[in-house]
Order: sequence, then C-alpha cells, then structure tokens
Amino acid sequence: YNERESLFIILNFAAQYFKGLLHEHEEGKSIGLSYFKERGFSNNTIEEFDLGYSLNEWDGFLKAAKKAGHSEELLEKAGLIIKKEDKTYDRFRNRVIFPIHSVAGKPIAFGARILINDKKQPKYINSPETEVYHKSDVLYGIAQAKQHIRTLENCYLVEGYTDVISLHQSGVKNVVASSGTSLTTNQIRLISRYSENITVLFDGDAAGIKASLRGIDLILEGGLNVKVVLFPDGEDPDSYSRKMGDEEFSSYLKNNATDFIRFKSDLLLEETKKDPIKKAETIQDIVRSIAKIPNPVKRAIYIKECSNILEIDEALLITEQNKILLREK
Ligand code: GTP
Ligand code: MN
Ligand code: MN
Ligand code: MN
Ligand code: MN
Repeated sequence: YNERESLFIILNFAAQYFKGLLHEHEEGKSIGLSYFKERGFSNNTIEEFDLGYSLNEWDGFLKAAKKAGHSEELLEKAGLIIKKEDKTYDRFRNRVIFPIHSVAGKPIAFGARILINDKKQPKYINSPETEVYHKSDVLYGIAQAKQHIRTLENCYLVEGYTDVISLHQSGVKNVVASSGTSLTTNQIRLISRYSENITVLFDGDAAGIKASLRGIDLILEGGLNVKVVLFPDGEDPDSYSRKMGDEEFSSYLKNNATDFIRFKSDLLLEETKKDPIKKAETIQDIVRSIAKIPNPVKRAIYIKECSNILEIDEALLITEQNKILLREK
C-alpha cells in the first residue's frame, strides 16, 4: 500500500472501532448511545451516519490500533493520536464521534462532541488537516446527500453536524454542512456537481446571519443560485426541526425560502430604516453582491428586482453596477 491507502485503512479501522464502542461497550452504550437517543436520533440514523463513541481513557484507541498492527507514525498522520515529547495519546477521548466521509463514503476525518457543555473545553474537536483530509474541500454529509441533491435539484446548506443529521432524519435529505469552517469556493464547486441551487439555513443568531451573508456572495460568485431561510433567534435547523415536527418543518423551509436579494434587502433595510445615508450604503452593498454573478442575464434580472424592492431607478443601479464591474477588471 502507498501512504494514502494506508491512511484510508486506518481511518476505516478507527470508524469501526468508535462505532463498536457505541453499540457494544458498556460505557459507550450508557453514555454515548443514550446521548444520541436523547437528541432524538433513531437507530437507522445512527447507523446511516456511522456515529460512534470514544472512551474516557488516554490511549484506548492507540492500544487497539497498535494491537491491530497499525504504526504510531501512521496513526499520527491520520490525525488520530497526538505525540508530545514524553507521551502519546488519543486525540478523541470521552466524546461522541461523527465520522466525516469523502464523497465516495469513506471515513476521512472525525468530529467529536463533548457530552456535557463545559466552557473550559471546546464543544467540538475535529481532525487536523491530513494527507487525505483537506477540510476546505469537504462537506459533511455529502455521501448521504448527493443523490438527493441531484434529484431534488437543490442543496440545503447548514452549519453543523447535528443539523445535517436531524434534517436527514426528518426527511430533508439533500443537506450538507460546511462544518466549522466558513464556506469555501471548493465546497461550492463540489455542490455544483449535483445542483445549481443552494438554500442556506444558518443558525438564527448574529454569527449565523453574518456567516450567511458571507456565504451568499461566494455562492453568487460561483455562478449558483442562492436562497436563504432564517430561523428564530436561538434556534438552529436541528432544534427547530425537532420542535416543529417533520411536516411542519418541511413547509417552514418551503414557505420561508427567500431569494438572496430580498433577504439582504430586508435585513439591511431593517437596520437602516429612515437613515438615507445608510440606505445608500445598503444599496451599494446589494449591487456589489449582484455584480458578483457571472451571468449577465441573471445580473439584469436581479438589478430589476432590486430596483423594485428598494424603489430606486433601474438605470441608476445599472450605472452603479457597471462602475463596480469596471473597477474589478
Ligand atoms: P450542537 O450543540 O451539538 O447542536 O452543535 P451545533 O452544530 O449546533 O453547534 P454550533 O452551532 O455551536 O456550531 C456549528 C458547527 O461549528 C459545529 O457543528 C462544529 O462543526 C463547529 N464547531 C462548534 N463548536 C466548535 C468548537 O468548539 N471547535 C471547533 N473546531 N468547531 C466547532
Ligand atoms: Mn439516504
Ligand atoms: Mn451558532
Ligand atoms: Mn447550531
Ligand atoms: Mn445545534
């Protein structure tokens, strides 16, 4: 085997190991499995996403992996163990495990969640970058979602692992997450293999809204169509879908999907009511987004829409847009 192949074998061993602990080990069952059950995840869901558990020990995984013949050097290169001067220990300990799969469905990395929120420790620990895991190229859930994205001609984009899993369980299966990183061009390109349409479902908090605004411009630059669904403050797609029930949630998505331009206008105008200078800045901001769209016909349609929503002369908006386009050449 070459090194990449060896890493895939080790990562698969690790996924099986964590999964085994969740289903067969006393600690895994009483702590890990009940954690997932309390979050409402069904057996099917736990199976489909290959969820697992890591023991409350320093080197439980290390020992098992060495026993199975894997070298410390490769275990470290796979991101699974940490080597310090005098000690070597498991990266993932006492956490529930979310394997991150390649498009083809092979485990390439892990996200691991703490069981009880504790300000002193990070809520999630993720694999580092490795030879087979470049986080900016990867979307969590893509293996499970890709065919659904193609068939439904739309991809829902969420923030977290648990959002992907909850939505999938509630029947919304065309869903992926950017997983901790802000959305990247390569992630958008990956979605575009399956669909030209993205609906952004970010958390209903200030950070979520900020992330959606950044995401929107990147998606437009990639030549894809983008809609946005906002959630009430304090809710994320996972919590809200559980609160509402499947049917109601899927109608919520349908009824609240807003085209990016209306989303941006509403949001920015809300902040800038009655302040003409701020309104001018808002219009600039929206025109800048439209200018990112590669297709000139789509740009023209959005300029018209913008002119209607904001009650600004279309010719003026076109002039503004052309200034931006010239500046960027
Ligand atoms: P739950 O609390 O389990 O429902 O998770 P969440 O997905 O709702 O978490 P949150 O909205 O806080 O964060 C969204 C995503 O950002 C997570 O799914 C992780 O991928 C990532 N993330 C959150 N907290 C951390 C952290 O402490 N460290 C790292 N590296 N990533 C994090
Ligand atoms: Mn499926
Ligand atoms: Mn959040
Ligand atoms: Mn969240
Ligand atoms: Mn959440």
